[in-house]
Amino acid sequence: MNKEQSTPTTSRRQFVKTAGAAVIGSGLAFHSSRAKAFSPNSDTLKVGLIGCGGRGTGAANQALNADENVVLHAMADIFPDRMEKSYTNLLKLHPDKVKVDKERQFLGFDAYKEVLKSGVDVVILATPPAFRPDHLMACVKAGKHIFCEKPMAVDAPGVRKVLEAAKIAKKKDISLMSGFCWRFHTPKRETFSRVLNGDIGQVTAVYNTYNTGELWSRPRQPEWSELEYQLRNWLYYNWLSGDHIAEQAVHSLDMMSWALGDIPPVKATGTGGRQRRTDPIYGNVFDHFAVVYEYENGAKGFHFSRQQKDCSRSYLAEMIGTNGRAVADCIRRKHYLEGAKAWKFRGESNDMYQTEHDELFAGIRAGEHINQGEFMAQSTMLAIMGRMVAYTGQTITWEEAMNSEETLGPKIDEYNWDLHWATAEVAKPGITKFF
Ligand SMILES: NC(=O)c1ccc[n+]([C@@H]2O[C@H](COP(=O)([O-])OP(=O)(O)OC[C@H]3O[C@@H](n4cnc5c(N)ncnc54)[C@H](O)[C@@H]3O)[C@@H](O)[C@H]2O)c1
Repeated sequence: MNKEQSTPTTSRRQFVKTAGAAVIGSGLAFHSSRAKAFSPNSDTLKVGLIGCGGRGTGAANQALNADENVVLHAMADIFPDRMEKSYTNLLKLHPDKVKVDKERQFLGFDAYKEVLKSGVDVVILATPPAFRPDHLMACVKAGKHIFCEKPMAVDAPGVRKVLEAAKIAKKKDISLMSGFCWRFHTPKRETFSRVLNGDIGQVTAVYNTYNTGELWSRPRQPEWSELEYQLRNWLYYNWLSGDHIAEQAVHSLDMMSWALGDIPPVKATGTGGRQRRTDPIYGNVFDHFAVVYEYENGAKGFHFSRQQKDCSRSYLAEMIGTNGRAVADCIRRKHYLEGAKAWKFRGESNDMYQTEHDELFAGIRAGEHINQGEFMAQSTMLAIMGRMVAYTGQTITWEEAMNSEETLGPKIDEYNWDLHWATAEVAKPGITKFF
């Protein structure tokens, strides 16, 4: 299980009848399709899970809770132990809905292709992020509805592929839901809708943080190849995770982007490095970042993230406006506005992970296909841009970052267990080049 809250919930949701209405009122962008709507609960929706780790297992559970008539039909992973654990846990939670015969438990780097051929309707993408753009493109080409975990890519060519896939999804009436879970969190929806409504005036700055402790690592086993070691410890290899600004702190950047209307910045400048996690077990990632994003209207986004133990923690977005201030605090669970339109969230919170799937499936049933492709690609790119400026020590424009040709890992079809990937050295600002 990753560090964020992705604990499976066991409660069955009584939402199917009401969720459609909730979705329409949620303010999310919809792409309407009249032609291919499923009639509610008349067709079984078959789910395929690609990446059977902590988050994938959690998301599959939420998908199975989200609709009366949904089954888990196929699974893919590269490691048999991860597949087995996920299958066993899901079967315990949903003995009637997990219908993944042995022959539909696919293993290997091409296992995702087998899932797509197995007759699934909806696919959950929850591998390490490096694989996401190609898995996503394969899903839209195969005409599958998608739940796509964040971050959506680790480099700019990956982001461009995600944007292309999102366009195809729109044309084909495919639902594309992102794992930017705070966008489904009731207190944050209420806070950010007030900010976007102008209740604190014009937003001039967003201070956002993801300052947390250290995460898991898996000790090297004698029978593991170097590739297996890195894949099992993918967080610490930037070609697999994008570094922690992309893999984890992207949530805070997504809140920053949400508050600023999801417009891209003009440029960014930043710093970062590794001070605590210097041991080789931590691969080639940094343990802290600080990035300033500058917007055309003069607004600035100040981002701080770190994964260092025994330091103070903070995970929030604070919006400074011309007429007040708004705070969305993920640790203290406080959401409020100060100023002329002061307000405090006092309502009931929700399980945002469940809401993601409730809304995805309600949209599929109603033929109202959610497409979050643009903002999810942009928030991912903000994180990649932050990494680029911190690694190189240069100020980089959005245009330069978006057009970067730097790819961090091998091509999807090059993966095999004999692959020897030359993992890059830890970046050094002023020496590491931008390209
Ligand atoms: N939205 C959230 O709150 C949240 C929380 C946790 C994780 N995540 C994201 O979910 C993704 C997965 O994270 P996790 O914590 O579940 O990691 P994990 O290591 O527990 O799971 C990843 C799984 O993918 C498998 N895998 C690796 N390469 C594969 C490939 N090519 N094909 C198929 N399977 C492959 C691994 O064996 C593993 O079982 C990451 O992108 C992470 O950032 C999001």
